[in-house]
Amino acid sequence: MTTAEKVRSRPSARAKKAAMKKEPTMAELADRHALYQESVQNSEFELDFIDDTFKELTGRTAVSMREDFCGTAISSVEWVERRDDNTAIGVDFDSEVLGWGEKHNASRLKPAQRERLTLLEEDVLEVTTDKVDVIQAYNFSYWFFQERKTMLDYFRRTREALVDDGILFLDVFGGSECYQTQKEKRKLDGFKYIWEQAEFNAVTNELKCHIHFHFPDKSKLKKAFSYTWRVWGAKELQEILSEAGFSEAIIYRQKFDDKTDEALDEYIATEEAEDYACWLGYIVARR
Ligand SMILES: C[S@@+](CC[C@H](N)C(=O)[O-])C[C@H]1O[C@@H](n2cnc3c(N)ncnc32)[C@H](O)[C@@H]1O
Repeated sequence: MTTAEKVRSRPSARAKKAAMKKEPTMAELADRHALYQESVQNSEFELDFIDDTFKELTGRTAVSMREDFCGTAISSVEWVERRDDNTAIGVDFDSEVLGWGEKHNASRLKPAQRERLTLLEEDVLEVTTDKVDVIQAYNFSYWFFQERKTMLDYFRRTREALVDDGILFLDVFGGSECYQTQKEKRKLDGFKYIWEQAEFNAVTNELKCHIHFHFPDKSKLKKAFSYTWRVWGAKELQEILSEAGFSEAIIYRQKFDDKTDEALDEYIATEEAEDYACWLGYIVARR
């Protein structure tokens, strides 16, 4: 190679600089809390369910709500936006996620609305709050509790924090797929959501799960969130709620289309179920 050819084959200073200045991937630019809210949560639907069920069971409209394991507190923020007298208390022991919720969700509230929202950085097993109409603990977060006595303690504490006709709303899932490792993918606007049940202990019912996000540029946000849960049965949770003093614990099971077997966004109070591979539901526990 002549000297001229050598010079020509050398990358220009600009190309070198561009190659060195690697553009960030979509995963590097992503915000895991924003992706979580978009893919996992549907606060509007959940609050509608709480509103309708509370009205049906008590004959009045719920005003005060506590959101346990609130994370980004999106549900609490939407609750205070719903009605001018609604109040919400969000409880989470992680300052990072609470800070994110303050910055990205609570900040949109008008001053008068913000006054009706309290965010507490506390453990739900220790927190003491004013009595409320509704406590919600969603996205199976109470399944972090592995021991029956811890679950009983949690239910006793929530019952104490409810007014006389107050209601605890929990979510629950069941079916054979809970007890196995598996991956489920869902395509959303601009990214893919992957739910992975990575390990299941068939003796203790301990389930290790992860949420991953994949992007069109092939970059991945692996283990954006990880949880270790105990898979609790709906029946045993009803029994523990009863032991904690709740007068009734009603199971609302997701409905399935009779013809296609497709899961519907409709929940009915029933303890009847076929051997569904996976069903979602709520437990509505009346104080
Ligand atoms: C899966 S997120 C749930 C977020 C939201 N509730 C939802 O429906 O998607 C679980 C949250 O529970 C919080 N958490 C776990 N154990 C807790 C405890 N003992 N006390 C308070 N917060 C807890 C975590 O910090 C995390 O933000």
